[in-house]
Amino acid sequence: MSFPTSSRRGFLKTAVATGVSFSPLSLPDETAHVFLAGPYLQPPASNAMTVRWITAKPTYSWVEFGPTEALGQKAQSVKAGIVDANNRVHAITLTGLEPGKKYFYRIFSKEVVEFKPYKVTYGETIQSDILSFIVREAAGKQVSALIFNDLHDRPESIRHLCGLAGVNDRDFVFLNGDIFDHQNNEQQLIDHLLAPATKTFASRTPFLYVRGNHETRGAFRSDWADYFTFPDQRLYFDFTWGPVHFLVLDTGEDKPDAEPVYAGLVDFDAYRQEQARWAEQVMQSKAFKKAAFRVVLMHIPPQYSGDWHGATHCKQLFSPLFDKYKVDLCVSGHTHKYGVHPPVAGQHHYPVVIGGGPKDGNRTVIRLTADTRNLQLSMLRDDGSEVGKYAISSRS
Ligand SMILES: [Fe+2]
Repeated sequence: MSFPTSSRRGFLKTAVATGVSFSPLSLPDETAHVFLAGPYLQPPASNAMTVRWITAKPTYSWVEFGPTEALGQKAQSVKAGIVDANNRVHAITLTGLEPGKKYFYRIFSKEVVEFKPYKVTYGETIQSDILSFIVREAAGKQVSALIFNDLHDRPESIRHLCGLAGVNDRDFVFLNGDIFDHQNNEQQLIDHLLAPATKTFASRTPFLYVRGNHETRGAFRSDWADYFTFPDQRLYFDFTWGPVHFLVLDTGEDKPDAEPVYAGLVDFDAYRQEQARWAEQVMQSKAFKKAAFRVVLMHIPPQYSGDWHGATHCKQLFSPLFDKYKVDLCVSGHTHKYGVHPPVAGQHHYPVVIGGGPKDGNRTVIRLTADTRNLQLSMLRDDGSEVGKYAISSRS
């Protein structure tokens, strides 16, 4: 696969700036028909895996997969009777997979040269190498995950931290926000996350992602979500993996919504309140209650994060719920100051672990493993030393 540096978006910007009008299908042939990023795997799920990638040109795309390198099965994306085509950002879910089994796969993209109502003209088809992944057992008795936060546009940290912590046998990787300083364009997404993640782990191991306050900034902020697949198609979500029920909160901005720098274009107070109502419903669910462990992942910590508005609002809204419904652990980032904070009587009944970042000497990666009896967390700094750990025994 090739990853050209020439940018279709560069052309788009130029075209807009010079007032040239065009439709996507009348673009000059300024880029080759190539993969721009991926394939990268998205959320961990029982019996399924979502494969995502980006092409430089509009295409019809599909995945061939199977238990051997002969592949044999084909998947495409169909929505309400329409097969996805003439698009560049691809998400195709492979279903009917067997947990514990290895699958091989290859992505294909056939260029759509012209798309008329009664005549579609195809161009060349490109394909990836044959890659593979193992379907992890979401319904099993164990979980093993890596958690990153606050990389802040330092793509080299992905390879470095994965190398220290070991990524190959993990069920998933979780990105706990502020992977970027702000969202500029697709090329930034590719260069600072998708390309290094794909190369390091993401073509074999799926990842999940929740925004930090920095993913909510910049001209490309509303496009960001198009490149990832979320459980329940929401940016906050919950899922059970083995003995752990994970609750993921999208904590929003750090300053008040009315702050002039936001130009009247954020509304996070209401969004956090919506999540608090939703979180309480989740916490009252059977899946949450019967899990051996209940773990919250959220970028802005509900404690130890200063007195700015976002942190204060998170503390007011979420911390009482975590106490009431006996959350076992909260893992966050945001402060750039790593630490393990055990429960403190009268303040918070649950431990708060905060990952560091983003500069050398302060970057961390968190390993989270659990079986039905014990949950263990280990935080490594970028020099390989363990700078935090926590162990919890199941209450049941
Ligand atoms: Fe942050």
